[in-house]
Amino acid sequence: MHISVLCDEAIDELKIVKDGFYIDATFGRGGHSKEILKRLGSGGKLFAFDQDTVAVEEGKKIKDDRFFIKHMNFVDLQKWCLENNLNGKIDGILFDLGLSSPQLDDKNRGFSFLKNGKLDMRMNPKQKYSAYQWLQTTDEKKIVWVLKEYGEERFATRIAKNIIKSRQKKDIKTTYDLVNIIQEATPFLPKNKHPATRTFQAIRIAINKELDVLKAALQSTLSFLKKDGRLTVISFHSLEDRIVKKFLKQTVGNRTNNSIIRYLPIEHRLNFKNIKRVKPDEKETRNNPRSRSAILRSGTKI
Ligand SMILES: C[S@@+](CC[C@H](N)C(=O)[O-])C[C@H]1O[C@@H](n2cnc3c(N)ncnc32)[C@H](O)[C@@H]1O
Repeated sequence: MHISVLCDEAIDELKIVKDGFYIDATFGRGGHSKEILKRLGSGGKLFAFDQDTVAVEEGKKIKDDRFFIKHMNFVDLQKWCLENNLNGKIDGILFDLGLSSPQLDDKNRGFSFLKNGKLDMRMNPKQKYSAYQWLQTTDEKKIVWVLKEYGEERFATRIAKNIIKSRQKKDIKTTYDLVNIIQEATPFLPKNKHPATRTFQAIRIAINKELDVLKAALQSTLSFLKKDGRLTVISFHSLEDRIVKKFLKQTVGNRTNNSIIRYLPIEHRLNFKNIKRVKPDEKETRNNPRSRSAILRSGTKI
C-alpha cells in the first residue's frame, strides 16, 4: 500500500478551480489524483502520468470522464501539451517525486537493499538499461563520480574499486551481491543508516536520470502552465529539493547584464510568486516514516 505524503497540503497548494485543467505528473497509486478529482467540478480535467507501467495499469481502474492516464516520462510533458493543444492552458501541476511504496516493496524491482532480488532499479520497466547493466559496464571513474555526486557517499572510491574487482570474478546480479560489496568496502558502519543507503540512491538516480529529467520538466512548466497556474513539488532528498528551490527562485533574465529587468519591480524578475515551503508535521512523520524527509515547495506562475 502507498500512503500519499503531504496529501492535503499538496492539494491545498494546487488551489483547485472547479473547471480547471490539472496534471498529476507522478500518479503512483493515485492518492493525490483521487483527492484532486474530489475537488474538481464537472468541467475540470485531470491528466495523470507515470513512467511505471504497473502504476498506469492501476490508474486505468479509475472510471471517471474527467480523468486521463498515460505511460510517459514527465520530461515529455511540454511535447504532450503542445500535441494536445493544452500548452499555456494548465491550471496546476503536482510532482510527487521518487518511488512509491509498491515499487520499493517489490523485491524484483531491485530498489531495496533490505530485500534480495534482481538488480534492476528501472522506474520504467520498458527502459533498456538496468542497474545490473550499469554496474557491469561503467568505468571506475564514472562510478566514483556517481556515488559522490548523487549519493554524497564518503567511501565512493573504495566502493567503486570493490565493484570493479568483484565484477571481474563474477557478475553483480542481485541486490544482496551489491550490499555485500558495499559492506566489504566500508571501513566502519555509519550511525542510524544502512551502509548501502547512499550507493543505492546514487545508482537509482543515475540509471533513471532523475535529476536531469526533473530540471528539464520544471523548466517546461513555464510553457504549459497558464498565468497564475500553480506548481507544487514534493521531494524526498536534498539534491532534488535544491533543484526545485533554485528553479522557483530563478529570475527571468540576468540581473546585472539586463538593464531593463534591473529596473522592474522584484516580482517581475521572477517566474513565480507566493513561493512557499511546507514540511510534514509530527503526526504525519510518526504515522508514515517515509514522509520524514519530504519537503513540499509551491508557487504561482507569474
Ligand atoms: C512517490 S510516487 C507518487 C505517489 C502518488 N502521488 C500517490 O499518491 O500515490 C512517485 C511515482 O512517480 C513516478 N515517477 C518518478 N519519476 C518519474 C518521471 N520522470 N516520469 C514519470 N513518472 C515518474 C514513479 O514511477 C512513481 O510511481
